[in-house]
Amino acid sequence: MTSILPSHPQAQDIQSLFNRIAPAYDRLNDRLSLGQHRVWKQMTVAWSGASPGNICLDVCCGSGDLARRLARQVGPTGRVYGVDFSVGLLEVARQQTADSIQPLAIQWVEGDALNLPFEANQFDAATMGYGLRNVLDIPRSLQELHRVLKPGARVAILDFHRPSSRFIRNLQQWYLDTIVVPAAESLGLKQEYAYISPSLDRFPTGREQVALAQQAGFAPVTHYPIAGGTMGVLVAQKPFH
Ligand SMILES: C[S@@+](CC[C@H](N)C(=O)[O-])C[C@H]1O[C@@H](n2cnc3c(N)ncnc32)[C@H](O)[C@@H]1O
Repeated sequence: MTSILPSHPQAQDIQSLFNRIAPAYDRLNDRLSLGQHRVWKQMTVAWSGASPGNICLDVCCGSGDLARRLARQVGPTGRVYGVDFSVGLLEVARQQTADSIQPLAIQWVEGDALNLPFEANQFDAATMGYGLRNVLDIPRSLQELHRVLKPGARVAILDFHRPSSRFIRNLQQWYLDTIVVPAAESLGLKQEYAYISPSLDRFPTGREQVALAQQAGFAPVTHYPIAGGTMGVLVAQKPFH
């Protein structure tokens, strides 16, 4: 396993934030999305175009839920690499996969989304769930995904999104302030979840994400708003030539 420690102090803050969240992360996700994150992740796997026998990548894999879904999709003849820089979450991922009834072909890799530890043109498909909003350099992260994908392969990137409707936007903010943060507070993780709202304010809109992916070399690129526009999936293909 490759070992990395981000040199940027802000990256170290993000890394330790996710190490602190690790033990409660899955329980909170289920509770806060009313189980809906499973549906959104399944849609993300479908949009990535991953098929049986493929070699796939899940970047910012955290506790590995999306990577395990990808592994079920590629089956026993395929392989999934789950990459994250949080040792705490990778340990949860490893444990949960070991406990899984169905054997899954996943390799957990401690690595940086901004400097992926893979050769160019390796992967048939890639996914990323709630990672793009957290990386310090979105264009660089998209360039890295573009580099490691095979020509013609797609990446599907699921994340929160600020809806264009003012009403739904206010509803989303209300939900974050009155449901998400207090739920996290009950587990002693208030600060750790209070970061979602400011990170979402900084996060590019769907249209801006499309432009950034195009600048990284992807074409075609589409952003699909889901859950009333409070979430979105950016689907980007690496051209054949
Ligand atoms: C909100 S979690 C998402 C985890 C998982 N994909 C999911 O959907 O539940 C964001 C993850 O991004 C990881 N992360 C953030 N920046 C990273 C980077 N530069 N390199 C690798 N992982 C990073 C964090 O450690 C964390 O596990």
